Parts: sequence; structure tokens; C-alpha cells
Amino acid sequence: MSLSTAGYNPAMSRPLEPIPVDLTGKRIVVTGASAGIGHEAALELVMLGADVTVVARSAAKSAAAIDALVARGAVRARLVGEHADLGALTEVRALADRLATAHPRLDVLINNAGCYPGQRVMTSNGLEEAWVTNVLAYEALTTRLQGAVRAARGRIVYTASTMAGDLDVDDLDRSRRGWNGIKAYRQSKQANRMLAWAWARRLDGSGATINVAHPGGVRTNIAHRQRGLWGVLNRLAFLTQRSPRMGGDVLVWLAASPEVGGSAGFYKDRRAIPCQWRDDVAAQERLWALCQRQLTAS
Ligand SMILES: NC(=O)c1ccc[n+]([C@@H]2O[C@H](COP(=O)([O-])OP(=O)(O)OC[C@H]3O[C@@H](n4cnc5c(N)ncnc54)[C@H](OP(=O)(O)O)[C@@H]3O)[C@@H](O)[C@H]2O)c1
Repeated sequence: MSLSTAGYNPAMSRPLEPIPVDLTGKRIVVTGASAGIGHEAALELVMLGADVTVVARSAAKSAAAIDALVARGAVRARLVGEHADLGALTEVRALADRLATAHPRLDVLINNAGCYPGQRVMTSNGLEEAWVTNVLAYEALTTRLQGAVRAARGRIVYTASTMAGDLDVDDLDRSRRGWNGIKAYRQSKQANRMLAWAWARRLDGSGATINVAHPGGVRTNIAHRQRGLWGVLNRLAFLTQRSPRMGGDVLVWLAASPEVGGSAGFYKDRRAIPCQWRDDVAAQERLWALCQRQLTAS
């Protein structure tokens, strides 16, 4: 059993309780594992004994991420590199197919990769980048890999945020209400939660679960595309934000802890927190169906 506290920064973090679990033989896929919260979570999970698939944007980034994890003590043989531009649905689909073939049983899927755009970028599918990366990529991977997670009676974890809101299913590309990066990010993070509750209903009774993590305000590169005063404020926020290790802890806990038995929870710091979009089942189902249509059409 490995009880790792690697990366703990006494200046910015409180000590973390070790998670008493041995993940030997468990296969865990982590998206956005090349940097930030996902990278730290991947490290902790491999230190706990798991076999971790490190999903990054490119083969070079995934190889570099694995080298960085090994340099910090991870066993190379427990790490597998995968890659896809998660803002390109054809690449996401190809990734999902490869993962489904490689892992008919998948213990944990952590959908974590995310972007916070500085300007509006439309993808080749005619959809906005943050919507594709932060929402449709999660949905495509969950849709394709849910069978493997069910087979393992495993866990799905979505990284969302309390920086969320303003989602209107009838104006997802915000052509009616106006676009900016914050609004695009916030609506994507609201969607993550609503869609997780829709998946929880579908997984109910299967032994597989889905839970959602809020990592807190974390010193990562997520806001690197923000410019002007907002960009400066985002950089200043580093002074008060927690370490990526602290931010990643809730993902690790949701993925690994024996304390986590249930589904459809929203967690920060290993504690359940309220979600204001929990009760509107009709809106969750409408959004879920819309995402499935977008995935099929593009
Ligand atoms: N930082 C915070 O305060 C905070 C708070 C709440 C929630 N979150 C959430 O935490 C998650 C991780 O963010 P982070 O803070 O760790 O940011 P980060 O350091 O920028 O890491 C984001 C990860 O996602 C990957 N990614 C982004 N776009 C991608 C794409 N098109 N294709 C493939 N990979 C892509 C990044 O790869 P590249 O480096 O190649 O782009 C990187 O590995 C996100 O879902 C974010 O919304 C963060």
C-alpha cells in the first residue's frame, strides 16, 4: 500500500489525509494529465498502485508528462500514454475507440481536461471550442466507455467547478446573448454537473457510479489565454490559490477512496457541497439528449 503525499507544499496547502487503498490492478484513464490538476491526480493514483493512462493533447505531450511523473517517483511500467485534441470530435472518437478496445473493463474514467478560452474559436464541427473540449469530449468518452466502466463496477469522475452558470440550452453558442470566455467556461461547467446527474440515473443499479469534483481555486495554467486586466487578475489570483496537488486531491479521493460509495455527488475537499442544478431533471435530460445529438451529427 502506498500512502503518498508527494507534491505537498507547506506554504500553500494543508496536509492531506492519506487514502488507505491499494489500487494495484486497477486501470484509470485521466484526461488533461499533462498539466495542472490532472497531472497531480495521475501522480497520486499511480503512487497508490494504479495503472494510469495519461491522456494529453499530443503524443509528445503525453510522453513528456510520463517522463515528468517518472522523475517524481512513478513506476514507468504503470503508465501508458494516449493523446487526442479533445477540441476535435473526430480525434475524441478515435481516442474513445482505442480506449474501449484496450480496456473492456475500466475501473475509473476521469474526465478532467478543460480550457478557458480567451477568444471565440469555432471547431471544424461548427461548434465552439470550450463546449467541445469541456462538455462534448466528456460526453463522448463517457458514452463510449460506460460499458467498460459498468463491466468493472467502476467510477466516473467529472472535474467541474463552482464557477458555473448562465447555461441556456436554446443558446449554447451564445449567438443571442453574446459571447465571452468567462461565459463560455461557466456554461460548460454548469453542463458538466447537469450531465453527470443525467448519467447517474442511467448508471443506477449497475454498480458503476459517477461523481463530480470541484478542485477549488488552483494555481494552474487554465487562464493562460486571458488577456488585459482580466488576465492580470487571473495571474494575481495565484497568490491565494491552492497547489495543483491540493486541487487534484478530490479527484483522487473520488476515484480511489473506499469512503466514496455513492453516485451523483458534488464534492470539494472530500466533502459534499450543494449543486443548484440538481433538481431540474427535465433540463438535465434535455441537455443530455442535445449533447448526444451533437455527438451524432458532428
Ligand atoms: N484551476 C482552477 O482553479 C480550476 C477550478 C475549478 C475547476 N477547474 C477545472 O480543472 C480541470 C483541469 O484544469 P487545470 O486547472 O488543471 O488547468 P490546466 O493546468 O490548464 O490543465 C488543463 C489540462 O487539460 C488539457 N487540455 C485542454 N484543452 C485540451 C484539448 N483541446 N485537447 C487535449 N487536452 C486539452 C491541457 O493540455 P494542454 O496543456 O495541452 O492545453 C491540460 O493537460 C478543468 O476541467 C478546469 O475547468 C480548474
